[in-house]
Amino acid sequence: MNIDDWNSGQEEVMVCRLDTRSKKPLPCTVVIFGASGDLTQRKLIPALYHLCREEQMPDPFRIIGFARREKSSESWRKELFEGINKFGRTRPVSTEEWDEFAAHIEYYQGNFDDLSAYQGLKEVIAAAGQRELCENLLFYLAVSPSQFVEIVSNLSRAGLLCRREKCQGGWQRLVVEKPFGKDLESAHRLSEELSEYVAENKIFRIDHYLGKETVQNIMMFRFSNSVFEPLWSRQWIDHVQITVSENLGVGARGGYYEEAGASRDMMQNHLLQLMALAAMEPPVSLDAESIRDEKVKLINSIQMPFDENIVRGQYLAGKIGEIEYCAYRNEEKVNPKSNVETYVAAKLFVDNWRWAGVPFYLRTGKALPRSVSEIRFQFRKPPHTLFAAQCGATLDSNSITLRLQPDEGITFHINGKVPGASTEIRPVRMRFSYNAEFGAYTPEAYERLLLEAIAGNSTHFIRRDEVEMAWRIIDRIRSSWKGKDLKEEEFYAAGTWGPAAADQLLRRSGHFWRSTLD
Ligand code: BG6
Repeated sequence: MNIDDWNSGQEEVMVCRLDTRSKKPLPCTVVIFGASGDLTQRKLIPALYHLCREEQMPDPFRIIGFARREKSSESWRKELFEGINKFGRTRPVSTEEWDEFAAHIEYYQGNFDDLSAYQGLKEVIAAAGQRELCENLLFYLAVSPSQFVEIVSNLSRAGLLCRREKCQGGWQRLVVEKPFGKDLESAHRLSEELSEYVAENKIFRIDHYLGKETVQNIMMFRFSNSVFEPLWSRQWIDHVQITVSENLGVGARGGYYEEAGASRDMMQNHLLQLMALAAMEPPVSLDAESIRDEKVKLINSIQMPFDENIVRGQYLAGKIGEIEYCAYRNEEKVNPKSNVETYVAAKLFVDNWRWAGVPFYLRTGKALPRSVSEIRFQFRKPPHTLFAAQCGATLDSNSITLRLQPDEGITFHINGKVPGASTEIRPVRMRFSYNAEFGAYTPEAYERLLLEAIAGNSTHFIRRDEVEMAWRIIDRIRSSWKGKDLKEEEFYAAGTWGPAAADQLLRRSGHFWRSTLD
C-alpha cells in the first residue's frame, strides 16, 4: 500500500489525537523585553506572525515590545516587517497580510532599571480595557541573563507580576532565554533570586530544541511503538552517538561565544536534552511534571566523566565547500589568544539498570563539514555464528538513526544480500522521511514553544532541577580544561570533523563516528 491509498481513504489510518481537549488559549498580552534585539526580529515576531496567520493565537491578543532605544511603534513595525521578509518561513509577506498582524503590535521605550518605566508599562497594558488582556501577561525576556533579576524585580514592584503559584485574576508567566547561568552555582543563584519574585511554575526556561517537531517525536517513537522499546537497553544497544554539528563559524556572535563556548552554548542544553529524551524511562503520564521528572532522573544518573573521556577543539582557518572560513581566533570580538572551545565531545555513561556500561558519545561543534543533528543507536553485533563467523568485522551491526535536521526522518540500517550470483552482504536502509510522508510543513520551534507558554503548558521547558543537574556535568567537563591553554592537537581546520582526539575517544572502545550521510 502506498501513501496515496492512505490519503485517499482506501485504507483505514488510525490516528490518535492527544490534544483534542485543549482549548484555544485565553486572550493575553505578550511583552517582549529586548524588543530591538536580533532574537525578536529573527525568531519571536516571525513565530507570532505565523501563529496569528494560522489562527492559533488567542483572540484578542496584544504584543508590546519593551526596549531602551528611542523609536515609535510605527518604526518598530517597519523594522519587523523587513525582518519577517528576511527570516520568516513563508516569505515574502505582503503588506496586507502584515498590516493585519501588525495592528496588534506596539513599542514601549524604557530602561530596564527604571521603575517608573514599568509603571508606565502597566498603564499601557491597562489601556486595553479588556480584562483578560490586562491580566493575562506573558513576559518574554529576550535579554542577557544578567538583566533577568532587575527586570523581574521591577515587574514585581510595579505590580505586574504576582509571586504566588496561583494568583487572583489572570495569569502571568515568564519566558527566559538561555543561557540560564554560566555554571551550577550561578544558575542556582539566579533561580534563588527569581524565586523572590515569581514562583517556579511561572518560569518557562526555553531550549528551542524541545520545540522541534523531530525532537518531540523522540517520545512518540519510543513509547508508541512496542517493537523498539524492548530493544532499548544495554542488552541490545552497543552505544549511542549524538551529533549536533554546524557548518558555520561563530560569525557576528564572537562576543557572546567567548563567554559560552560549545559546552555552555550547546552541550549544557540541546545535547543533554536530546540524551535525556533518548534514554529516559517511560513517564507515568504525559503531564509536564512526569516527563520532566524522568528527564531529571536520567540526567542525574549520568556519571561524571573522566578527563580522558572529554575532548575539546577550536577551529582554524579552512574551507567548507567553496567558502573560506577564518580561524576562530581571528573572528570579530574574539580574543586572538582565546582558549574557548568551538568543539566538544564527551563519552558519558548512565548509572542505571537500563544503560549501565553503554557509552553515549556526544559531539557538537562549529565550522564542521555539515549541519546535522541526529541520534544514532548502534546495536550489538550478531553473535559469532553463520555470517558473522565468516565476515568478522566487515559485517556491520544494525542501527537506528533519528535524524532531527535536515532531511528529517528515521533510518533503520539492516544487512541484506546484494543481488547477484555472488554472496555478498551489505547494510541497506529502511527510511521514513517526514517530507515524503507529511509534506514539507515544519513549524518553527519558537512557534510551538510560544504557543505552549501562552497556553501554560510547561512540558517542553526546562525545570530548575533539570538545569542544575545539567550544569553539574558541564562544570565537570569544563574543569578538565581549567587553566590549560589549548594544545596544538586540539585545533582543527574549519571543514573537518574536529580534532583527532575525538576519533581516538571512540577508537579506544573499538567504535568510530558514523557518517552523517549514512
Ligand atoms: C543556539 C546556539 O542555541 O542553537 C547557536 O546558541 C546555535 O550557537 C543554534 O547555532 C543551533 O540551533 P539550530 O536550531 O540551528 O540547530
